[in-house]
Amino acid sequence: MVFDCFMAITKEEFNLIRQFVHEHSGILIGDGKEYLVENRLNVILVQSKCDNFFQLHEKLKKDGGPLCIEVIDAMTTNETLWFRDTSFFTSLSNFVIPALLEKALSKPKVRIWSAACSTGQEPYSVAMLLDQARGAMGKGAPPLDRFAILATDISPSVLSIARTGRYSQLAISRGMRAAFLERFFVHHGSSYEVAPAIRGIVTFRQFNLKESFGSLGLFDFILCRNVLIYFSNELKSEIYHKLHQSLEKDGMLSIGASESPRGYTTVFEQIMVDGAALYRPSAHSG
Ligand SMILES: C[S@@+](CC[C@H](N)C(=O)[O-])C[C@H]1O[C@@H](n2cnc3c(N)ncnc32)[C@H](O)[C@@H]1O
Repeated sequence: MVFDCFMAITKEEFNLIRQFVHEHSGILIGDGKEYLVENRLNVILVQSKCDNFFQLHEKLKKDGGPLCIEVIDAMTTNETLWFRDTSFFTSLSNFVIPALLEKALSKPKVRIWSAACSTGQEPYSVAMLLDQARGAMGKGAPPLDRFAILATDISPSVLSIARTGRYSQLAISRGMRAAFLERFFVHHGSSYEVAPAIRGIVTFRQFNLKESFGSLGLFDFILCRNVLIYFSNELKSEIYHKLHQSLEKDGMLSIGASESPRGYTTVFEQIMVDGAALYRPSAHSG
């Protein structure tokens, strides 16, 4: 589609739109980011036949459904890659995964949640490492279907990519290891598809971290990585408490390298493994 006009946003419209985005997703759009809103929402503005951002905001107030989802989707930042953050994935291989394999020997399901999974690289990376570690364990290893990975995101467009399990050469080149590519993907022309066994333990679902986590149940391991940075301090604090309530007593949490619960809650204690911080419910947190 070719657009013959690019609509600039006024200060007042910018404030209305960023308030709307914050209310519905928790995402904070900082001062001076008018260009971001303009760039990401101009297509939607034209498609929804609005003459300006004020009209778009009026429609959003009335719509509450598909248009709202489309706008929030466009305002998310979905940067991700395979095995993102070497220290974290080393700690996963050396510490978290052995503990989860051990648990799977005595538990019918070990539950993992990738809470802002973007296009799926994070949950699939975890599933591949689990299967590799299982293979190394030999005969006594628990079957792969003892593990269930729930992968959620607010953005329907990233989830639709994640569900296909298909990635371009470019996406693969961003962190995928050669041995894992060989072992866990089926090559289809110019793209690579995650093998059925790996896809079989990952379930994708649209979920907004602003909602109650009550319906999700308890998890043995939660990854909530590189998403809290977009939220207000108040929402970070709320989400840390909800994450704590969603963890099994002996569960573990991983957050992004630039994120920390310090100053938001005392319900977690930090453990450092291979240079990466992991969090578990602190003894006094109940
Ligand atoms: C930068 S990506 C991080 C992806 C992955 N966790 C990683 O570390 O590579 C942040 C993701 O958070 C999602 N997100 C933003 N706000 C959200 C919310 N309120 N609820 C759920 N997901 C959200 C975005 O759609 C985006 O895919």
